[in-house]
Amino acid sequence: MNLQSLVKTVLYRLGYSIKRVRPRRSIAPGAGDRGAVSRDELLALLHPRDPFAGFDYAARPFDGHGWGSDSPAFRELILAQKPRLIIEVGTWKGGSALQMASVLEEAKLPGTILCIDTWLGALEFWTDLTDPERYGSLRHDHGWPTVYFQFLANVCHRHLQHRIVPFPQTSATGALWLRHYGLRGDLIYIDGSHEEEDVYQDVLDYWEVLAPGGTLFGDDWSWDGVRLAVERFAREQNLRVSFLADKWLLRKAA
Ligand SMILES: C[S@@+](CC[C@H](N)C(=O)[O-])C[C@H]1O[C@@H](n2cnc3c(N)ncnc32)[C@H](O)[C@@H]1O
Repeated sequence: MNLQSLVKTVLYRLGYSIKRVRPRRSIAPGAGDRGAVSRDELLALLHPRDPFAGFDYAARPFDGHGWGSDSPAFRELILAQKPRLIIEVGTWKGGSALQMASVLEEAKLPGTILCIDTWLGALEFWTDLTDPERYGSLRHDHGWPTVYFQFLANVCHRHLQHRIVPFPQTSATGALWLRHYGLRGDLIYIDGSHEEEDVYQDVLDYWEVLAPGGTLFGDDWSWDGVRLAVERFAREQNLRVSFLADKWLLRKAA
């Protein structure tokens, strides 16, 4: 075994991979700094064709059902932060993403929202087959959830395609991808899994890709899994959890 393989093996056993330890260079000079990445750049990295192009959204009427998506916190945070890149972990039908996109639009701010979601639901979406808002709304087609297409349709109905880039991926891989390209969000919204270890990992992963001076925030403080994970992370990092309307917030020093 040569030295490089040995180092790789040791790091891997310690829970790292070379890509985690040494992310690739930024996609362009300055990219990854606040304000440097555009929707077109993100699209070019993720999708050979714009996912909204030619999508027959009229076949799916608007269905904006979501959770915590009409919170005044989105407006307040966006107007204060003026984010160029917003990262959302957990998009579902697009409620919160559309809310944030509308604020950017109304305020004529130039930001883009990267929506990271498997569109396969979280644990609670699969534990009650009679729940119309979760299991029922996954809209299975031969066993495979199709709620992603309702999200696409909702964005088109609101004419906000130019603000949003979907990334159908797990939160863990999404964070590694951001690190791979050296991309950082100015505002990161965590609303994926609500299980303690998952939330802890999401907060840990996305704190790393939060720009200096940025804010990481999330929903569902009333869920034990969320609260315990965020409190644990804040304690370990010596951070203070603050609150705005129904959201919890962690702010990174500039
Ligand atoms: C509560 S919903 C998001 C609600 C949304 N923010 C709104 O405004 O209505 C949670 C979403 O997180 C996604 N999700 C859960 N665990 C995930 C994971 N590990 N990676 C990516 N997405 C995940 C689910 O597919 C689901 O769409």
